[in-house]
Amino acid sequence: MLVSSPAIASMYRYRVQRFWKEFDLIKQKQANLTVTDLTSLDQYHYLGTSAVDHAAEILKISNHSQVLDIGSGIGGTSRYLAWKYGCQVMGVELQEQLHQVGVQMNEVTHLSDRVKLMQGDFTDISDLAIADRSFDSWISLNVFLHICDRTTLFQNCARVLKPEGRFYIEDYYAAQDLPEGDRQALAEIIACPYLPSREQYLADLEKVGFQEIEFVDMSALWQPWLQERYQKFEAQREYYQVLFDVDMVNSYSHFYQTVVNLFNSGNVSGARIYGTK
Ligand SMILES: C[S@@+](CC[C@H](N)C(=O)[O-])C[C@H]1O[C@@H](n2cnc3c(N)ncnc32)[C@H](O)[C@@H]1O
Repeated sequence: MLVSSPAIASMYRYRVQRFWKEFDLIKQKQANLTVTDLTSLDQYHYLGTSAVDHAAEILKISNHSQVLDIGSGIGGTSRYLAWKYGCQVMGVELQEQLHQVGVQMNEVTHLSDRVKLMQGDFTDISDLAIADRSFDSWISLNVFLHICDRTTLFQNCARVLKPEGRFYIEDYYAAQDLPEGDRQALAEIIACPYLPSREQYLADLEKVGFQEIEFVDMSALWQPWLQERYQKFEAQREYYQVLFDVDMVNSYSHFYQTVVNLFNSGNVSGARIYGTK
């Protein structure tokens, strides 16, 4: 079962509006936009494109690779991979509005032939026409925290990968038992209704046949990055209040602060998890 779409829709409710406003500001300065002009806007994970470069190295992506981007957002990761490494990428994104922005940005950056974006729920791939064993690798950055049906999720993850294919995840996990307040904040603010422990995460991946799994805790790198994101936003509050309405500014501030608090509590952590089929 997927986390209720209203929870996800609520968390992402201002993304498209914010994207277009900030896109227009960039566009006013420069007519022909490339992938790198958009990376300050389209990477909805942590540590920007350096995280994608790290993943590309682990996944051994080359210009022959067929890559699946699970939960592609507005396609930032997919475009960056195709642009930098010359691979073919398919992205699957649940939310129609985000998917549509991604399709338009593929056109803007002339990458529509190498990046195919599809709208759909990755826990229900029967509708998506994704053939079994069709990808050399898949990547999924900050997506699985939204999905509570890990059984179907990981079965699909295993199905779509070629034998000996590689996978790369960035995600949250529960470093210790979560107090009720943290559970509530995760569910209501982050649209994360369930968080596995490290042991549960590994067991779920092994159950569907993934092997040689590495689980690298990212808290030491993510915590300062998240803190800086929140502080930068607060420092530019007046600027954002000119651009956006006050509800939107307050919503972003609350979201960024909640993530900082969750990671600072030591109860919630982040990880890079990768391996092979
Ligand atoms: C934090 S964003 C990350 C987007 C992208 N991976 C990136 O790094 O820019 C998480 C995305 O996962 C998508 N998502 C959540 N559940 C999904 C599902 N079941 N199938 C496909 N996409 C999903 C959300 O709609 C959201 O766009």
